[in-house]
Amino acid sequence: MKIVWVTSESTPYAKTGGLADVSAALPEALATRGHQISVILPYYAQQTGKLNLTFDGFHAMLGVPFGPETLWAQIRIKKLRENLTCYFIEFNRFFDRSTLYDWNGSEYPDNAKRFIFFSRAAMQAILALGLEPDILHLNDWHSALCSVYLKSPLYSGFPAFRNTRSVMTIHNIGYQGIYDKGNLYWTGLGWEYFNYMCLEFYDRINLLKGGILCADIVSTVSRTYAEEILSPEYGFSLDSALRHCAYRGRLRGITNGINTKEWNPATDSRLPARYSAKNLKGKAVCKAALQKRFELPERPEVPLFGILSRLAYQKGLDVFASCLEDMLYHDDFQFVLVGAGDPGLQKHFQYLASKYPQRLAVFIGYTNDIDSHLLEAGSDIFIMPSRYEPCGLNQMYSMRYGTLPLVRHTGGLADTVRNYSPDAPGKSTGFVFWDLNTESLRNTIRWAADIFRDSPSDILAMRKNAMRMDFSWDHTASLYEGLYHDAHQ
Ligand code: ADP
Ligand code: GLC
Repeated sequence: MKIVWVTSESTPYAKTGGLADVSAALPEALATRGHQISVILPYYAQQTGKLNLTFDGFHAMLGVPFGPETLWAQIRIKKLRENLTCYFIEFNRFFDRSTLYDWNGSEYPDNAKRFIFFSRAAMQAILALGLEPDILHLNDWHSALCSVYLKSPLYSGFPAFRNTRSVMTIHNIGYQGIYDKGNLYWTGLGWEYFNYMCLEFYDRINLLKGGILCADIVSTVSRTYAEEILSPEYGFSLDSALRHCAYRGRLRGITNGINTKEWNPATDSRLPARYSAKNLKGKAVCKAALQKRFELPERPEVPLFGILSRLAYQKGLDVFASCLEDMLYHDDFQFVLVGAGDPGLQKHFQYLASKYPQRLAVFIGYTNDIDSHLLEAGSDIFIMPSRYEPCGLNQMYSMRYGTLPLVRHTGGLADTVRNYSPDAPGKSTGFVFWDLNTESLRNTIRWAADIFRDSPSDILAMRKNAMRMDFSWDHTASLYEGLYHDAHQ
């Protein structure tokens, strides 16, 4: 199939979260299965530019209708392999910024314009490059408008789109692209699109809503999350639109995979020692290196908990913050926390790290690959108390490194982690709790630490089991093929 994958981020070019990992790994897995893949993404001069890439070609003048005028963008072309090419839309007024979406915790005021432009540019690029896709695969709100465009007279008449069906993948419904309705002006679409079955949302426009309701198929990144978002608690006011899709059999959940080549403790050159499920000796070396790197006492016997996360409400780390000091005061545990986001949380964690330097190490910011791989490998237990989690990748990275995830039972975390059972440690892969509150989280952390100290053979069995789980993309990619066929039904 000819598949065009439209995304606002992809590793290594630009990344704020898991969308970037998926937008690199899944197109690659689909290409390996023989499909023709084109990835369209913005050219972020300050992030992608830093990589000093060489390009295989340029498409100089891409005309993008935008409100009353036509803006001129450039396409940078990078061929990754015969059947996998990235097309970067370069338009510096919108994409030459110090960060991707926001600055100092506030969204850029022109984000509506930036991503309306990007979506329109993607449609124009498909025409200009003659891609003639069978599938237009859209990801999150940034590119959702493309599915509205595809059904609109602006594009539906082009032979290039005659055989095109759209797939809208929701990686996180907490972000929808909700803006003042005046922004409709920039889309080139008429007011007839401002209705409750398309872009209208409480008298504003909602780009993700339009994308969901116009797509031929909607998917999300785990099976449990696909069910959860049908409820008001998880649906962020789009539950009714999603129920409409589900009722027509057009909503699917496909759990993400991970890049098992990049995340492989047996070959990972970023680590001070390599290891496998058969021989875990190197993991102890990684733990010592992690303690040293983050200036914690090098003690093999102490349970070491890792966290690597955006500090966003979604991640439940406010609840972790509210029980952390009690544990730092009473318990002989170590914590390494790496993250960036909420300024209040950042300050709180930094304050606690200065008060308990023997037990808590904090790095605020975006860390490099070496440290994030070391954190996954060197921790004993990895904490993810998410309020909601469409899929989550870190729990799978940790399991691959024999680090046991401690997670809340929600979304993809519920689908990928098997709770510890003393009767069957060899079938368990982590620790699971249900209610997101201070008591419950603190008790689970203490419970995991008790098992770590008192039942080392259970921990070893769990580590080995976790490392043997198959999270590779190949199987996942085959499920997407099924989805693409269904989109054509
Ligand atoms: P989300 O996309 O919601 O942030 P995921 O678990 O799907 O959650 O993916 C998060 C990705 O971002 C992982 O690859 C994780 O390692 C990375 N990440 C998150 N915060 C940081 C950080 N501060 N430094 C480096 N990588 C980070
Ligand atoms: C989002 C979600 C995360 C998911 C990722 C990739 O950022 O928050 O749970 O793993 O997208 O699909």
